[in-house]
Amino acid sequence: MGKFDFDRQEMIALLKDRDITNECLLRAMATVERHLFVPEAFKNRAYEDSALPIGSGQTISQPYTVAFMTQVLQVKKGDKVLEVGTGSGYQAVILAEMGARVFTIERDLDLLAGARKMFDKLGYRIASKGGDGTVGWTEFAPFDGIIVTAGAPNVPQPLLDQLADGARLVIPVGDLDIQTLTVCTRNGDKFDHREIEGFKFVPLIGKMGWR
Ligand SMILES: C[S@@+](CC[C@H](N)C(=O)[O-])C[C@H]1O[C@@H](n2cnc3c(N)ncnc32)[C@H](O)[C@@H]1O
Repeated sequence: MGKFDFDRQEMIALLKDRDITNECLLRAMATVERHLFVPEAFKNRAYEDSALPIGSGQTISQPYTVAFMTQVLQVKKGDKVLEVGTGSGYQAVILAEMGARVFTIERDLDLLAGARKMFDKLGYRIASKGGDGTVGWTEFAPFDGIIVTAGAPNVPQPLLDQLADGARLVIPVGDLDIQTLTVCTRNGDKFDHREIEGFKFVPLIGKMGWR
């Protein structure tokens, strides 16, 4: 047993208690070592259900938030998924471990460099770029799912435009203090919206985000 294996199992038990039922997702979160994605000083807290600092004033999201958003996204093996807000790279690796083809965008180039090192070190093929993810990644659209891991003032239209038919966009929307997790599902030219209360994220900064 590795030093953190027991802690990781406890994290999985907590996720199951909180209605995370997607087996493929639970397997991915039981496999990917979250402690590798947090700075040395926080490794001992890597499997607590809390967000942790990753540098540049940013955070790795709380495990329950990662699990909940990924479950809502309904990722299937082979799906093409766009993530906005690479941060540490943990969420992108969870999606890749579930068999998705992952494209991820990060505006902070230092964080992006760190995440890319992790992708290489762990052997995941994940496409990434630096820049403003609020405008999406048109070259690779449409996507079967889009997940935004920072809080936006409203739903960026370019991200809706880049959804495949039947695909979902999962994005926290609200003011800078508290957001509602918004799930937009494309149905031809229409979009169904569902809202889930009570999430807290760092701000999404960009052309279609906070200035
Ligand atoms: C909560 S953190 C991401 C957590 C990350 N998914 C992980 O697994 O570690 C949100 C990230 O979104 C990034 N971000 C904010 N606005 C952005 C934008 N317009 N485009 C791309 N990334 C953005 C921040 O720099 C930050 O790294």
